[in-house]
Amino acid sequence: MSKAITQSVSELIASANEAKEKSEAKFSHFRVGAAIKTEAGDVYSAFNIESSSYGLSMCAERIALWTAITAGESKFKRIAIVSDAKDFCTPCGACRQVLYELAGDIEVYMTNMKGEVKKQKLSSLIPEAFTSKTLLNGRD
Ligand code: THU
Repeated sequence: MSKAITQSVSELIASANEAKEKSEAKFSHFRVGAAIKTEAGDVYSAFNIESSSYGLSMCAERIALWTAITAGESKFKRIAIVSDAKDFCTPCGACRQVLYELAGDIEVYMTNMKGEVKKQKLSSLIPEAFTSKTLLNGRD
């Protein structure tokens, strides 16, 4: 648990909270906001968007990442994830995989409704991740 967070991290969390306010979670009512920061310092934020065909809904983290990648970004430093839950909102398995592959071993900051902040390296959330290194092994 990180008690003293830097202003830069608290600003990232504020961006995620701002995004969460726009969440399109009309089925689960579980609002999530995410903000990802590039190595150059740019921030891309997003919220979860749900479909009436529930499985087509998309998490805030992946939308934030894909928005950044669409804008031409490829180097990332950290992501903040917020929700309205009492517990820390940890990224789902699919987001862990996609973030690890496309953003690398970034810092993940999670918050809870008590205002506490937890920091973990992404690699600790997805140990021994499957990556293109294995996929392409033996092909070249
Ligand atoms: N959700 C996220 O956006 N990120 C997470 O880390 C966990 C889950 C969304 C997906 C769905 O819209 C809602 O939260 C409930 O699962």
